[in-house]
Amino acid sequence: MIKFVVFLLLSLNFVNSYNYLVFCPLFGHSHTTFFAQIADTLSDAGHNVTFFTPTIVEKYENMSYVKSTKHVVKLKASEELNQLGVRLESNDISNFWYRESTISEILPTIELFQKMFLVQSDNIFDNIGVLDELKNKKFDAIIYETFVLVAYPIIDYLGIKTQIPAISMTHDIDTARVIGETIMTSAVADTMAPFGDRMTLIERTINSLASPIIKTFIGWPTYYSFTQPGKPLDYMKMIPKSTFLLINSNPYMDFPRPTITKTVQIGGISVDMGIMRDVKVDQEWNDILNIREINVLISFGTVQQSQFMPSSYKAAIIEACSKLPNVTFIWKYEADDYNKFNRDLPNIIFRKWIPQRALLVDSRVNVFFTHAGLGSVNEVSYSGKPAILCPIFADQMRNAKMLSRHEGAVEFSKFNLDNSEKLETVLKEVLYNPKYAENALGLARRLEKQPIKPKQLLLKHCEFAAEFGELPSLDPYSRNMSYFSYFMIDIFLILSVIVIGLFILGFYILKNLLFIVKMISFKKNTKLE
Ligand SMILES: *[C@@H]1O[C@H](CO)[C@@H](O)[C@H](O)[C@H]1NC(C)=O
Ligand SMILES: *[C@@H]1O[C@H](CO)[C@@H](O)[C@H](O)[C@H]1NC(C)=O
Ligand SMILES: *[C@@H]1O[C@H](CO)[C@@H](O)[C@H](O)[C@H]1NC(C)=O
Repeated sequence: MIKFVVFLLLSLNFVNSYNYLVFCPLFGHSHTTFFAQIADTLSDAGHNVTFFTPTIVEKYENMSYVKSTKHVVKLKASEELNQLGVRLESNDISNFWYRESTISEILPTIELFQKMFLVQSDNIFDNIGVLDELKNKKFDAIIYETFVLVAYPIIDYLGIKTQIPAISMTHDIDTARVIGETIMTSAVADTMAPFGDRMTLIERTINSLASPIIKTFIGWPTYYSFTQPGKPLDYMKMIPKSTFLLINSNPYMDFPRPTITKTVQIGGISVDMGIMRDVKVDQEWNDILNIREINVLISFGTVQQSQFMPSSYKAAIIEACSKLPNVTFIWKYEADDYNKFNRDLPNIIFRKWIPQRALLVDSRVNVFFTHAGLGSVNEVSYSGKPAILCPIFADQMRNAKMLSRHEGAVEFSKFNLDNSEKLETVLKEVLYNPKYAENALGLARRLEKQPIKPKQLLLKHCEFAAEFGELPSLDPYSRNMSYFSYFMIDIFLILSVIVIGLFILGFYILKNLLFIVKMISFKKNTKLE
């Protein structure tokens, strides 16, 4: 009997199982984590998934990102590509601790990314055998990150009919525009913009013009087909043919905005509360959490490390912590030099690594002081803990505004990190004003009870895409319209001409009428005299 059931399950699996290629070059931890999660979700549902992850940044190459996905294809970086990976890693981001991240600083990074993927395309072409092997798998669909344009020569070479681009960040205006989604730059900030939904005139201008300006300065690179004679690929025409676009934002957390059916919001797939709740802290952490009744976690993530922050910030944080002796502060600090500034305070625990998820779901942890990376924002919001969000650069500014809108978290400017009084005030506010805990819990409950779970959304849409391929009916015609007709500027102009014409006519008639009246009265007057 059991054998029969197993057989039945297997055959069911076989009937519904598809072949997916998840393509994710190894260049950034959070990107690979997101795509590995997608791959594993599909694998867990019984699909055949190949995770193709050619190396760019070597330091991640031995990390195991995927778990249930068994077929992982790697490719060594060429010497040139390796150099670019080293440049990306050595990109000095420590100055973002005290500097605004502006377009002039973002431009070189974007250029570096474009160069990187172009060189990777040469690297893959030089090892075309890897793709030839993949060709035999006859993939039903490919999933890749929107801006990783090296995916297009791969799609072309492997002849994959179904594209499902994804983005490991929130709302990306550029991609939305290309697939024909309404973009509301007046009220919805771009993923890298440091704004929320209430923007000033200048902020709205920046939010609307940044991406066209970047495009004008950098432009789109040219990719050539791997198939001889290597014609240039018109990938701007390929992008709108995508069946779906998966984005790492959650409609119950992100700013509301108009979307189209093609956009599937799977933000939250990386957080599995069922698993998270089962993970318990070990004895050492257990003891730490038991020392005082209140515990606060401080972490700025793995990219922007605490050890490189200016010493004035470290001193101010220590000073603020010293004012709250009844609170244990657990600070993810990556070096051993904390004795230099710690002043031997007993209530601060320094650790190079913290079991963040296990700590966040532990009832003894009260508040999370975080850099608002999207991963941490998702984890803290699902765990229902109040947060102090101190974004440093990239998409963190927008993430912070996105989460603090729910009033279970507050934003804290990085420029105030050297102000111990402000730090103390914000800590006391979030620790002792019950509204933050209540609101954070409310958001967590809504996220967990979301009508359709992010994993389900991902799975159902990927299966639908694999079965039906490109879906031209989901491609809005508005995408092909000119600005003039889309925004009805033509109608506005015509109406304006008519209104102005009528106005002039009216004025003319009135003038003549007055003239006639005057003439008559003039004549009357002269007669009387
Ligand atoms: C999935 O992989 C298994 C084992 O390699 C193979 O037998 C099966 O045919 C594959 N399924 C599809 C849909 O390609
Ligand atoms: C990864 O593992 C391989 C084989 O064990 C080793 O040669 C290589 O140096 C490792 N890479 C890193 C970055 O540790
Ligand atoms: C710390 O806790 C003790 C006992 O609960 C209390 O008496 C004391 O006022 C607290 N100190 C501060 C600074 O909150």
